Parts: sequence; C-alpha cells; structure tokens
Amino acid sequence: MGRLRLPNPIAVASGTFGYAREMAAMVDLRRLGAILPKTITQHPRIGNPPPRTVETAAGMLNSIGLDNDGIETFLARHMPYLASLGPPVLVSIAGKNDDEFVAMAARLDQAPGVAALELNISCPNVSGGVDFGTDPAMCERLVAKARRACALPILAKLTPNVTRIDVIARAAEAGGADGISLINTLLGMSVDWRRRRTRLGAGMGGLSGPAIKPVALRMVYQVARAVSIPVMGIGGIASVDDVMEFLVAGATAVQIGTANFYRPTVSMEILDALPGALAELGAGRVADVVGTLEFPPPAACAGPAISNP
Ligand SMILES: Cc1cc2nc3c(=O)[nH]c(=O)nc-3n(C[C@H](O)[C@H](O)[C@H](O)COP(=O)(O)O)c2cc1C
Repeated sequence: MGRLRLPNPIAVASGTFGYAREMAAMVDLRRLGAILPKTITQHPRIGNPPPRTVETAAGMLNSIGLDNDGIETFLARHMPYLASLGPPVLVSIAGKNDDEFVAMAARLDQAPGVAALELNISCPNVSGGVDFGTDPAMCERLVAKARRACALPILAKLTPNVTRIDVIARAAEAGGADGISLINTLLGMSVDWRRRRTRLGAGMGGLSGPAIKPVALRMVYQVARAVSIPVMGIGGIASVDDVMEFLVAGATAVQIGTANFYRPTVSMEILDALPGALAELGAGRVADVVGTLEFPPPAACAGPAISNP
C-alpha cells in the first residue's frame, strides 16, 4: 500500500482484536497481513457507561468510547509483544484536537516496531472526535500536521457518517495521507420500548458487521476512484467472498472487524481460501484484481448513487 508493505492483504481492524495477545490461542498471528491494535489516546480513557455492545440484525452496535490506558502504557505494555509477532503493526491513534494527534504521531515515530499510523478521525463514540472526519478542511489540516510530525506511513480512517465520502478522502490525500482506511462504524441506536430506554448506556453507538457491508463497498468504490492513494476496505467482511468483493471494488487490502468476535479464526480461513479465489479470476497476485469492477454503463443506472466520478 504505497510506502507501506504488507505481506498479504488480510489485516485485523482496530478495536476488534484487542492487543493481539487475547487472540493468540486461536489465531496464528504471524500469518496476518497487518495488526491494528485498539485505538490509543494521549491519556488513559475510562470509556462509556455500560452496556457498551448490543446485537442487531446482521451486526452489532458498540459504544466503547475508546477505553484505553493511554499511549505510554501501550508502548510499555503492548508494543513489545506486538512488534515481536512479525506482521506490520499499524498503530491507531485518536486525539481530542490537532495537538494531541501531533504529539502522539511524533512519539510513535520514535517507537520501535511501528510500521504505520492509522489516524482514527472517525470514532462516533467520542464527543467532538467525529469532526475531523466530517469537515474536509479540518481533515486536511490534521493529516498535514501529523504528516509533518512523523516519517511513518499514515492512513486516514474515515467515517461513513458523511454525505460525500469522496470529498473527505480527497482532503486526506491532499494533507499527505499514504492511504485511506474505510469505513468505521455507522452511527446507530437500539431502543427497548418496554423500558423506554436505549439499550446502549451512551444512547447511541456505532453499527458494524455484515449489515454495513453494502455501504462500505459503495464507499470503497467511490473513494478508490476519487484518490490515487491505496484504500483499505473495512465493513462487514466475514468470508473470502467478501474480501474479493472489496478488492474488485477498489480496495488494495482489507481489515476484518466484528467477525473476529463471533468467529475468531475467520482471518485464517480467509487466508487459506484467498489463493483459490484469486485463481478463479485467473489472477496470481492480489494486485491483478484490485479495482477491476466492471461497473454498469451510466445509461443503465439512475439516481444520485452513481453521480460520483
Ligand atoms: C467493539 C468495537 C470496537 C471498535 N473500536 C475501534 C477503535 O478503537 N478504533 C477504530 O478505529 N475503530 C474501532 N472499531 C471499528 C472497526 O475497526 C471497524 O472499522 C468497523 O467495526 C467496521 O468493520 P466490521 O463491520 O468488520 O466490524 C470498533 C468496532 C467494534 C465493533
């Protein structure tokens, strides 16, 4: 992915794989294309009130609220183990403002074992946190500042909770991002009408899982055509067929999220099946299928969904 070299295109998404240690009994971690640990923040965060997760039709809602022990604890307690595993470690960071992002980017630039940064400018569970990913000017400025603060490859992780994802992606590219990760969760809600209460303690949360895959595919397709930097596809991926759909739609690599919870071995199953799926298209390499979707000609379609270039 540009300056970032991955041994294969199957990564695990931030917040759905712990700090990898938790998964070691079920997953051969050395085989993964990349590991994205839970987003870290400058200071420890206690997260949102419980309940923090709710099952939905074909997915789940979460409002974890970036519960984490802060960057220094992460570097001392988790990074040495993550770095010992072999796959590139893409560290996800979130700040309350530009300065926090910049301070963390500069700190991680000096930390051994970090292959790249993923800027989480898309978490729906942190008050104010979503602004960077919904305002193109803020997005470009933030990425540019992080870019100046560190030499590592930078991925901007975008929120789907916008009207024009291509505009935000172009802003991230203009700011100097090496790649785009998308999508994060869709803001949603679950209601227990008998109690007249929301099921999540925080009221609202992020929807993920198979339910969001069509939205993610559509956005990956739009963004891959709007920018010239590589795209990491995320959203509802649970099988090798899902992976192939994202690659053909324009993703250079993918991240698996919610599926890790209900089938922890899913990434291994996908890795086993990927060469066969590529062979079905006559492809020997992932790059041969990326962005090869034959979209229906414009005359065959109608409506605003296809109005993007
Ligand atoms: C419980 C949970 C926690 C998450 N925590 C984070 C996080 O800390 N940082 C982040 O960038 N994304 C986080 N995400 C979003 C996922 O990385 C991913 O973008 C999203 O869930 C869509 O992929 P999926 O449908 O495969 O889960 C979280 C998702 C879930 C379900």
